[in-house]
Amino acid sequence: MAPEDVSEALTQAAGAPLLALDALAPGAFAEVEGLVEGEAESLVLHRDAAGDVRAWLNVCPHAGRRLDWAPGQFLVSKEGLLVCAVHGASFETVGGVCEAGPCRGEALRAVPVEVRDGAVWLAG
Ligand code: FES
Repeated sequence: MAPEDVSEALTQAAGAPLLALDALAPGAFAEVEGLVEGEAESLVLHRDAAGDVRAWLNVCPHAGRRLDWAPGQFLVSKEGLLVCAVHGASFETVGGVCEAGPCRGEALRAVPVEVRDGAVWLAG
């Protein structure tokens, strides 16, 4: 299943980036707050080894819980999968698709972001 794209429903953040790119090392995950559909939502940011940054709602498709075990603290498998701290669903970090666990085949909800001026921004 392809991740759901919510770009058309995004509300442009009022001139503020989500995070400085320097705060997101290659391979790292971070939790930030961003406006999605006019609501402040917790987002998971990930920067891959090539430097591409992706974002998803910090909501597990299994039971709707946050993925992190404490704010901004994410479990990562030795294969580099993002692991939900609640029941262990494991998500690949390109499409956000669950590869193992109770919601196998479902995907995190993607939130379009872009990198400019040394920071990560919601994509308009
Ligand atoms: S809430 Fe994430 S695996 Fe159950």
